[in-house]
Amino acid sequence: MDRMEVTETFAGMVLPGHMHTEESLCFASTFQFRDTDVLIATYPKSGTTWMQEILTLIYSKGDPEPAKTIPNWARAPWLEHTYFREVLQETGRPRLITTHLPCQVLTPALQKAKAKVIYVARNPKDVAVSFYHFHKMAKFLPDPGSFEDFLMRFLQGTVQYGSWFQHVKGWLSQRTELALFYITYEDLHKDLRHSVERLAEWLGCPLQPEEVQATLQHCSFTSMRENAMVNYTLISPEIMDHSQSRFMRKGTVGDWREHFSPLQNKLFHKIYQEEMGDSNLRFPWTTD
Ligand code: A3P
Repeated sequence: MDRMEVTETFAGMVLPGHMHTEESLCFASTFQFRDTDVLIATYPKSGTTWMQEILTLIYSKGDPEPAKTIPNWARAPWLEHTYFREVLQETGRPRLITTHLPCQVLTPALQKAKAKVIYVARNPKDVAVSFYHFHKMAKFLPDPGSFEDFLMRFLQGTVQYGSWFQHVKGWLSQRTELALFYITYEDLHKDLRHSVERLAEWLGCPLQPEEVQATLQHCSFTSMRENAMVNYTLISPEIMDHSQSRFMRKGTVGDWREHFSPLQNKLFHKIYQEEMGDSNLRFPWTTD
């Protein structure tokens, strides 16, 4: 099928149309959070789906039933998507909500409600690679062209969803203003157990050792890759074409090394320094 050409422009960035409309974005930006809401905020391809799964398992105390029977987009719906209003569940539990929107759109509402925010960041080089492959399979995104072309647009911040640099700097500048838990994809990768325990504690939902164990087992890459409720195989191949690239693609740290030329690496490092050099943020990656 041809790619869907429709787009929506919002807050200075271009977003895939159909799933984002003026109305859905207006609803998102005026959404009234509750104190008990938990918002997962990420730039695309940074570990969003992984965090949705981890939180599902934390709140189910390691019981895989909800994660195996309810699609992730219904368990932790995207605030800015057209279907959000319909699927937002009135459960007894905290409402899990997901967003890729930049912080300036949501901060005022989040501050007012004191909702919890979990921000997941990932090495932007791996994000660029993952996003490139995702463009190949996701027909609601434009054809990425060559990796070289895509990387240039990623560095300029002209890809859909805007600039990685602005997204990360924006959300992390709110660390003391919001109830914000900051974690990286690399932290999850390095020590999932410790990450799950820290998250559970912070959410006020501490787990027993066997509940942690069940969470780890269910949130492994292999388990999630097989789980149709998170691997997006439920979506029609006309929208997500898994023959081009799987959603659960590699799940590794440092895949950029397989894709970047020395020249691309040098340019990336230069722009990263220009964009991030004056920030005091600490990340578990270096870009040289
Ligand atoms: P790769 O394309 O590098 O494999 P998002 O959910 O934000 O779209 O991010 C998708 C990326 O997270 C993909 O990266 C996917 O494979 C990876 N991912 C999802 N679940 C994972 C898990 N349990 N362990 C490791 N990586 C995971």
